[in-house]
Amino acid sequence: MFRWLDHGRIERNLILLGVLVLITVSIGGLVQIVPLFAVETTIERVEGVRPYTPLELAGRNIYIREGCYVCHSQMVRPFRDELERYGHYSLAAESMYDHPFQWGSKRTGPDLARVGGRYSDDWHAAHLRSPRAVVPESVMPPYAFLDRPLDYDDIAEHLRALRRVGVPYSEEMIANARADLEAQARPEADASGLLARYPRVRQAAFDGDPRTVTEMDALIAYLQMLGTLVQFRDVTPEQLRQQ
Ligand code: HEC
Repeated sequence: MFRWLDHGRIERNLILLGVLVLITVSIGGLVQIVPLFAVETTIERVEGVRPYTPLELAGRNIYIREGCYVCHSQMVRPFRDELERYGHYSLAAESMYDHPFQWGSKRTGPDLARVGGRYSDDWHAAHLRSPRAVVPESVMPPYAFLDRPLDYDDIAEHLRALRRVGVPYSEEMIANARADLEAQARPEADASGLLARYPRVRQAAFDGDPRTVTEMDALIAYLQMLGTLVQFRDVTPEQLRQQ
């Protein structure tokens, strides 16, 4: 039936060869891609992972705006030297709400995937204002200008945009975005709503001044939560194997 399709003819007919290559490659592609639509999610859910609070999200936006990813990765690889230096290797679930993810590809500075809780807020503020004041040999640039007020009029829109791509922000979270952002940066504010919506959130005057919400507050809030959501004693070996 396919006698006309002999090898000699295919090799001498560029268009026929192209069409057949395309068909063959598409079959390979379909076999890989189609099953992914059938399974509910390709990422195993892990206890503790939650969407960013509005303040952390604003900090993450600053992290991206300032290009911190150019010098810092956020991905601890499963190698012994990395585990000893940074802690447990990164799980896929830990960046499941990152759009775009910040794994990075270069480490001029250390990996930041588990930097949360490693230093005090004061240390971060001093380090960001003038890295060489705390680490004399540092080549990191200073970011003292982040002490300016944070512009967060559109924070609810950021939550809404992320919900479009699958981050489970509820209507309630979006409606309270501004209030939650302010409450997290002011230690004396009532945080009951914030805590109910975002488990394990930390409330503090991150930059040392509770009066104004600054870009510094947002960035430190973000840095201090990195890698702290998953309590590794709660993760089953089964979940780790599937990551
Ligand atoms: C030019 C490269 C460069 C850029 C850009 C850069 N850093 Fe760094 N960073 C470093 C280096 C090098 C170190 C290690 C020395 C030190 O602690 O200052 C470091 C250290 C750090 C540390 C301490 C990490 C640890 O475990 O000790 C944090 C936190 C940090 N940077 C955050 C940031 C943030 C946030 C930004 C963006 C606003 C940023 N960095 C931009 C190079 C950079």
